[in-house]
Amino acid sequence: MTASKSDLYRDLAKGLAALLADERDPIANAANMAALIYHGLPDLNWAGFYFCRDAELVLGPFQGRPACVRIPLGNGVCGTAALRGATILVPDVHNFPGHIACDPASRSELVVPLIAGGHLLGVLDLDSPTLARFDETDREGCQRLVALFVDHHHRFPDAWGKRPLTRPSPRERGEGGTREAGG
Ligand code: SME
Repeated sequence: MTASKSDLYRDLAKGLAALLADERDPIANAANMAALIYHGLPDLNWAGFYFCRDAELVLGPFQGRPACVRIPLGNGVCGTAALRGATILVPDVHNFPGHIACDPASRSELVVPLIAGGHLLGVLDLDSPTLARFDETDREGCQRLVALFVDHHHRFPDAWGKRPLTRPSPRERGEGGTREAGG
């Protein structure tokens, strides 16, 4: 982990904690979190949320160009991360089977699932126009930010659509073009 990037994530975590304090509305907090990340991390062209609605992910607060509104679970990077309940880091989106190109400028992507009490709430999605923009520091840093958000809202469980977290099939686990870890 490079010192400067880990410092940046430490500052983002402090900033997010300050934004979340005293506010329990998940949409308002997600909107501020997307803005914090988009303007706080270099070289992004999209940062935002998809929230779980039955068997689909539906677009939530974000920064960047308008994006596809509904993503079925299992589709694209977002739907795959949601179905697996695991972070997916994609160095080159052109090598990810089924990648959904909301913005053709996107070249790499990081998706972190939001999981609370065994339920999937949605995902945080970051896109970059640069190949291999995201590394393990980004994965750890974004998982930490998501944990702050999820832990905060776990105390205020109203207003969420939820579904039980599913286990991936062997076929789903075997899809290529990604590096993964538990999220
Ligand atoms: N690329 C994503 C779709 C969402 S946009 O990037 C905002 C995917 O493959 O799921």
